Amino acid sequence: MAFTTALKTTVSALALSAFATTAMAEDVEVLHWWTSGSEAEALGVLKDDLGSKGVGWNDMPVAGGSGVEAMTVLRARVVGGDAPTAAQMLGFDIKDWAESTGQLANLDAVAAEEGWDDVVPAPLQDFSKFDGHWIAAPVNVHSTNWVWINKKALDQAGGKVPESWDELVVVLDKMKENGITPIAHGGQPWQDGTVFEAVVLGMGTDFYNSAIIELDPEALGGPQMVEVFDRMSKLRSYVDDNFSGRDWNLASTMVINGDAGMQFMGDWAKGEFLKAEQVPGEDFVCARFPGTQGEVLFNSDQFVMFDQGDASDAQMLMASAVMDPKFQSAFNIVKGSVPARTDVSGDGFDACGQKGIGDFAEANEAGSLFGSLAHGHAQPTAIKNAFFDVITAQFNGDYDSQTAAEELVNAVEAAK
Ligand code: GAL
Repeated sequence: MAFTTALKTTVSALALSAFATTAMAEDVEVLHWWTSGSEAEALGVLKDDLGSKGVGWNDMPVAGGSGVEAMTVLRARVVGGDAPTAAQMLGFDIKDWAESTGQLANLDAVAAEEGWDDVVPAPLQDFSKFDGHWIAAPVNVHSTNWVWINKKALDQAGGKVPESWDELVVVLDKMKENGITPIAHGGQPWQDGTVFEAVVLGMGTDFYNSAIIELDPEALGGPQMVEVFDRMSKLRSYVDDNFSGRDWNLASTMVINGDAGMQFMGDWAKGEFLKAEQVPGEDFVCARFPGTQGEVLFNSDQFVMFDQGDASDAQMLMASAVMDPKFQSAFNIVKGSVPARTDVSGDGFDACGQKGIGDFAEANEAGSLFGSLAHGHAQPTAIKNAFFDVITAQFNGDYDSQTAAEELVNAVEAAK
């Protein structure tokens, strides 16, 4: 080890042990929405890690996929003067909290000590920093444009993983003929939005960029968007009658049990397959949503700390624990995501996890990496919700495709 590195390591160990000593009797209260089986298990990895460092865990779970309800509860608590020590947050919400409240703790000291600048990928740092200061510790990178397929159902439907829209329709028809529900879906706005963004990306990266990132009215209201809504209606025809309001993990269970053929969902779904002791390639297949191979829509769960003078030692210790490379490996193997650092080895990850790590790096290089709209990394919440309103209404048959595209232009314009 070079002298400077050794010195840095020793200084860092001393600094952290100073945190540890003073933090011994402290707890962190953590607000999060990780309530499914695999999410709770992944969180347990963090709890245990902090426990071993003398920091107690005060759990504040708020059920509800994608954190919709968690953000409402968080706002109420902060307004009521009762901010938690730390909160799970996504993309633009982090920026919004930093900008509008100024109540987030500054993590610069621990970030500098541990060299986060050098190891956190730039697209994540855009959300972890505000005005050049670290205000969030990224725990993972998820990506949303995946399809999770029951292997037996796929074999019975011809065995070929669909790579294009047309191939997808062939497999879905076959699954229907075979008497199962082709698509396991939960009718909640964020889940409709998760499918929608994959369909948009399937029309091309330029289209995703102009419609979702640049909000170009011509893309939002044009013929390609009409085609996107036609495809959404087509997918709707493969969903069972009880889809409304179903939680995402129950939809995953339908695929795990073989009651349904496939689910379009972010890679947190993989956590549920693994928790059910399913093996990728044997019991289930992971693939990119047809037509989006080599392209990635990402989101990253990050922990922000609310500025609370007396809790800061435990907060810094938690931030440091979250960024620890060993922890990032252990946590993300269970969670279904990939590490939020570039220096964590893919060893120990299953084939889908290794694909996830490779895809993220390659898409980042190739310019085919985009923030997920449905998970807060493409637009602020008001605009995301404007999209959701139209997407969900159209999915439920309230608008034909042409009207939906027109409504999208209006809704986005009004939310800007
Ligand atoms: C995402 C989040 C994941 C997972 C999922 C379902 O937004 O990034 O970690 O929790 O929602 O709730």
